Amino acid sequence: MNLQEIESFLILYKEECGKNEEWLESRLEQVQCEQQFEPTTEELTFAARVGWRNSNKCIGRLFWQSLTVFDERTLTDEKGIFEALLRHIEFATNGGKIRPAITVFANDLVRIWNHQLIRYAGYETANGIIGDAHSITFTKVCEDLGWKGARTNFDVLPLVIQVGDRAPQVFDIPGEYVLEVDISHPEYDFERLNIKWYAVPIISSMRFNCGGIDYQAAPFNGWYMGTEIGARNLADTDRYNCLPKIAEILDLDTSRNASLWKDRALIELNIAVLHSYKEAGVSIVDHHTAAQQFKLFEQQESDAAREVTGNWAWLLPPVSPATTHIYHQPIANIIKKPNYFYQKQPY
Ligand code: ARG
Repeated sequence: MNLQEIESFLILYKEECGKNEEWLESRLEQVQCEQQFEPTTEELTFAARVGWRNSNKCIGRLFWQSLTVFDERTLTDEKGIFEALLRHIEFATNGGKIRPAITVFANDLVRIWNHQLIRYAGYETANGIIGDAHSITFTKVCEDLGWKGARTNFDVLPLVIQVGDRAPQVFDIPGEYVLEVDISHPEYDFERLNIKWYAVPIISSMRFNCGGIDYQAAPFNGWYMGTEIGARNLADTDRYNCLPKIAEILDLDTSRNASLWKDRALIELNIAVLHSYKEAGVSIVDHHTAAQQFKLFEQQESDAAREVTGNWAWLLPPVSPATTHIYHQPIANIIKKPNYFYQKQPY
């Protein structure tokens, strides 16, 4: 227990949530007396939201106050945790009208091995890679635990849940929980690419740090910004590497870099992603709108007399970065807490 961290969190909570000095004193006394800090659900909810506000890599922080927090710290069995994860997926997906949410599990007890709750498997085969190369190691882990993938390019990985020192347990996500969007283009024949992506990115590999406590299992989600899918997941050469096939559909000259075929293919892929999610009624934001929303966040923070911190390299969209205001101003990458951090992979 780190009293200093607990105290600075409780002071922040007091200031922002309308508590007084008396409250703070008695709350600190309680912590001292119990020799542990057990945040109330209200404190935890505030912390999770402020953790989002403090996430320097995130361009979507305008909406930090809208985060729904599920307090599932009492769960101690794999099956119950699995069901809570399904509830999270269902709540967040909401038929396409995506709702930002986090589910917090018992600290020092629960660990989710997945990087995201919904993610595609990746396999190294003699004929090249199938699926998402980003998932190759984790996919092997799942197969070692007894799971068997169908070996399509889009096999949804199972959930791998560990409680304490017990062996991790593997659970398939029932198909009806996984909303996906087939990618099509308003003008070109992109159907023949046979690509799709899932609706909700739910990061499950980061630890949520609040008042010196690490919640190692605290999966959280927002909605996608189009470029995450169109300029990275489907475009990176070490991911789905779709640009050469798109250049073919667009009949571009791929023999010369200077034809800018990659750039043109990239733009059309990003148009296709935004178009497809819109058509499917799944929430998504384009990078220009996201940057404008981030500007509002900066305004809101300065009105509240708080300095906006950020990681410039991460905040910039990978498409047309200099068309956003973010490119043209410095931003301090100072880490404030509560926050979300990377942690060592459990496998
Ligand atoms: N970039 C990651 C992906 O493409 C998701 C990260 C979180 N993104 C978000 N919009 N909340 O899967």
